[in-house]
Amino acid sequence: MGYRPTGGIEKPKKKTMSYQTLLTSIETGICIITINRPDKLNALNIQVFNDLDAAIDEVYDNPEIKSVIITGSGNKAFVAGADISEFMELKPEEAPKLAKRGQIVFDKIEKSPKPIVAAVNGFALGGGCELALACHFIYASENAKFGQPEVNLGLIPGYGGTQRLTQVIGRNRAMELLMSGNMITAKEAMEYGMVNKVVPAEELLSKTQEILTLIQSKAPVAVSKVIECVNNFDHTQQGYEFEIQKFGECFETEDMKEGAAAFLEKRKANFKGR
Ligand code: COA
Repeated sequence: MGYRPTGGIEKPKKKTMSYQTLLTSIETGICIITINRPDKLNALNIQVFNDLDAAIDEVYDNPEIKSVIITGSGNKAFVAGADISEFMELKPEEAPKLAKRGQIVFDKIEKSPKPIVAAVNGFALGGGCELALACHFIYASENAKFGQPEVNLGLIPGYGGTQRLTQVIGRNRAMELLMSGNMITAKEAMEYGMVNKVVPAEELLSKTQEILTLIQSKAPVAVSKVIECVNNFDHTQQGYEFEIQKFGECFETEDMKEGAAAFLEKRKANFKGR
């Protein structure tokens, strides 16, 4: 991963498990997961899904990992979609299983108690756009492009795209993107509310690391409860009730007592994640 900026200082890197189709590293608590099939524009085949599934399990289980960046290898694509070459032999009765498999992995990303941010460094098409949308938020490089071109293949998204895209950008824009298969630029994606920040390609990882470093300085249990509450967003009373419950649970944590005490004592809080 020679393109990763180090700011001139070599940061200590920790080892993770190794994966066939992913590059992974941990620096200052941030695990960078790079989908690594650059000659196929990082298309998601079965092996990538198996590796991503295992890597996200590692994110849940490894206490060294505090937050995650998902990005793509090379400077052309984040992920150019599901691997279309696997579709030719797929029977109608097998297709729902493939979609379900993808949805389980993307759900695990969305429900991760640790922040997961997509650093979209090029094409995020089809399953790539769905993967970015499953992350908690998205930073993008100026050359990034987003789209759901499945209709060009006689398909629709199967990894949650029709649902998450509609939730994030609204019904009418989702309808247009999904029915036309058109791509939008990073700037348009930001106007749509899909992307939080657009930066020059060479700054993408450092800017994403910067926001995660800030988030990592906050109370980890509170951050995980923010993720849970936002994921449970609901127009009915249920979302508000869920928030009340999670608010109450914060008062059971040592971090809440430490955070409040630190404020009153005019010092920096020392959160333990408990
Ligand atoms: N599945 C499998 N292979 C893919 C792929 C995908 N989704 N997207 C790109 N690739 C492969 C190409 O087949 C090509 O492989 P080859 O060199 O062995 O022929 C390689 O990646 C490079 O792609 P190429 O199409 O030559 O690059 P490009 O710059 O001309 O075009 C895209 C880039 C993204 C516009 C184009 O690759 C594309 O439209 N990809 C498919 C996007 C899509 O429909 N995704 C949704 C799938 S459900």
